[in-house]
Parts: sequence; C-alpha cells; structure tokens
Amino acid sequence: MTLETSPLDGKRLLLIIGGGIAAYKCLDLIRRLKEKGMSVRTILTRSGAEFVTPLSISGLSGEKVYTDLFSLTDEVEMGHIRLSREADLVLVAPATADMMAKMAAGLADNLATTALLATDKPVMIAPSMNSRMWEHAATRRNLQQLKEDGVHIIPPGSGELACGEEGTGRLAEVDDMIGAIEFFFKPSGPHEEPLAGKHILITAGPTYEAIDPVRYMANRSSGKQGYAIARALADLGAKVTLVSGPTNLAAPAGLQMIPVESAAEMLAACQNALPADVAICVAAVADWRVSNCAGQKIKKQDGALPALQLTENPDILKILSTDKVNRPELVIGFAAETENIAANAQAKLKRKGCDWIVANDVSTKDGPSVMGGDYNKVILFRGKDREDWALGHKDEIAKNLAQKIAEFYA
Ligand code: CTP
Repeated sequence: MTLETSPLDGKRLLLIIGGGIAAYKCLDLIRRLKEKGMSVRTILTRSGAEFVTPLSISGLSGEKVYTDLFSLTDEVEMGHIRLSREADLVLVAPATADMMAKMAAGLADNLATTALLATDKPVMIAPSMNSRMWEHAATRRNLQQLKEDGVHIIPPGSGELACGEEGTGRLAEVDDMIGAIEFFFKPSGPHEEPLAGKHILITAGPTYEAIDPVRYMANRSSGKQGYAIARALADLGAKVTLVSGPTNLAAPAGLQMIPVESAAEMLAACQNALPADVAICVAAVADWRVSNCAGQKIKKQDGALPALQLTENPDILKILSTDKVNRPELVIGFAAETENIAANAQAKLKRKGCDWIVANDVSTKDGPSVMGGDYNKVILFRGKDREDWALGHKDEIAKNLAQKIAEFYA
C-alpha cells in the first residue's frame, strides 16, 4: 500500500548493500520503502552477495540488481555514472569499516565505490561492524572525515553483535533507517531549520558558591558540552537561551546568553526565561552553598579554622521538570557519574521527573577526562529506551542530541 502522505513517495534511492550478516535487514528495508512509494535501485557488493542474493533483492525491489560483476552490456544499458546520479539519495547499508575507509579515502576499486565517488547526490551510511572496529581510532578518523564531507550518518545501535560480543556496532534497525530517510526528505528537513520557532533553555558550566567576597566553592566543569549543544540547536533554527555559570568560553553567536554565578542565580535566570519548549540542564550545579557566607574576607585567626555551614542548593532540573504552570514540553537532564552509570542515571531520570537523561562517565579511569576535556561518551535514556553513543567530540555529541530533539518535533 502506498501512503500518499509519505515524504518518500516518488523518491528514488540507490541502496548499496555492503557485507555483513546484517545485510538481511536490507530486504525488509526495501520492502518497507517500496510500500512508502520509494523506488529502490540496488548495488550489491561482492561481500554483500555472501549474505543476500540478487534474486531476493530484485524480487522485492522489482528492479535489476547491479553487482561487481557489472558487465559491458550493463555498462551500455546503465553506465555507472548514470546509476550514481539517477537517485535522490544514496544509502550504504550495512557500511562496513572497510567501506567507510574506502569512502573516506576516495577509493574507487569496484562498482559501489566508483558510484559513490561519481555521485552528485547526498550520501547516507548506516555503519555496522564489531564494536572494537567501530571504536578503533582509524574508524573514528574515517567517520569524522565522512561527516566533514557531508555524509549523513545513521548511528549503529548497541547490544549483542553478530560476533557474540556486546557493544556498539549493530546495524540500525529498519525503523530507524526509515526514520532517518524520512527525516531527510521531510519538507522541513535538516536544511530548513527544523527547530525554527522553538525556544530552548540550556544551563551550562559550573556554579560558584561564595564563601566570602573573595573565595568560592566550584567544580571542574568547563561548559564545553553545554555551549556545544547551544550552538548545535541554534544551527537548527532554535531560539536558544543559554544560562551559563562562569567559564572561559566565548559567548556563542546567534543566541541569548545570561551569565550567572551561583545556583540560586541560575535558577532565577531559568525561571525568568520561561516559557520554553525544551529545557536542557547541562550545568554542573554545586549541590551545596555556604549558608554562613561572610560579608567580609575571612581572616586567619591564630590557627582557628573557619566553620563553614553548608545548605543544599535548589535542584534546577527538578524544579523545571515539576513546574505545574510552565513545564517545558521536553526536559532533558545530564547525569555525571563515576560508577554504576546506567543505573544511577535511570534513578536520576525518575527522581528528577525529566523526560530524557544523558548519562556520562566523568571518572578519569580510562582515557581523557570528560570534565574540562573535548570528548565525551554518553548513554541517552529516553524513558526506558537506551542508546549507547560511541566516544565522540563534544561538538559531535551536541549535534546528535540536537538531531534527536529535531526528530522529536518532526
Ligand atoms: N542539576 C540541577 N540543579 C542542581 C543539581 C543538578 O539542575 N542543584 C541538574 C544537572 O544540570 C544535571 C542533573 O541535574 O542535568 C544531574 O546532575 P548531577 O550532578 O549528575 O546529579 P545530582 O543531582 O547533583 O546528584 P548526585 O550529586 O547525587 O549525583
């Protein structure tokens, strides 16, 4: 049945099927895309042909399947240049580590890579591989290169992989691939500011809690992740209000920034900024403040230690999530954890009443520090739904999150 309202109706896809057990998912993908009115022409790589047959593909697509055994007759009938251009989108699924490396390097040693190099159409890839291969520095580099080249990425999922190991690298589910393709073709797609008209409130950075007029308590947050999210959302057309604790970062262009110091000031600024469609609390808000903050600089007195009394700060995330009048439609928290990341984050999601929580490991046990560093490894929880994202630059994590928010509104 063809859904008339589908943004895929009448669109043409060139599907390049790479090697890997997950290639079988492409059969269902083709069937579902056809139902939505899309025409699907396929190039089956030599390794892809180990897992699915040209016969099953053409049976579903209703079109001839092109393989590496592309003959002279084929070339006359349909040159590889025409093949690569008579499409509105080229999708590589599964995109193996090898295929990504070839694409990043611009190799053209078979029909699939030649078509990818010759195409003048947008390209999307759905990577699929063992989690070690996905996390390998070479694959990270290639992924970064492909993104810089404008290739759209459908991120792999996590769980048990075909090789029996657990981790990230599983080909995205058919629903997710279709979602990404539909999102691409939506009239208000990524190029047309999908978050235009949305007001998004973001907290970022640390808070400073005064001890006296010259001293304060703080934490190591740099504000980089929150600022990157603010930029990514503004790039998608959102009206962004960034409430930031003290950082060394320049105020991003194209958004409203409200600088604050303490948690109390941050809360007041957030409440003033309401109503908002989305609130994202990225700030590392100090849990406590000094309730007996001195009006004058505390002097040393014969070795006697000052007795600081602490009181709990307001929980901004919880207050926004439970606001009876002005609760934003989507409230997203961050969970900075050093152990039991997933369990602690899920408990936090419940306790604070937010809709999504982005959990990150801020321990310094393996790799570079998240707090203050440029990279982050996060798990996104949307209710019970869990997505493990690979280690990525904070800008990359920010773009992915912005994309998820755009999809929420798509
Ligand atoms: N948060 C907030 N206001 C606070 C404390 C935290 O808005 N006073 C927000 C943070 O911005 C983040 C989430 O709550 O989105 C979780 O912060 P985190 O520091 O991980 O947790 P805490 O609530 O402080 O709990 P704990 O220190 O026990 O881990």
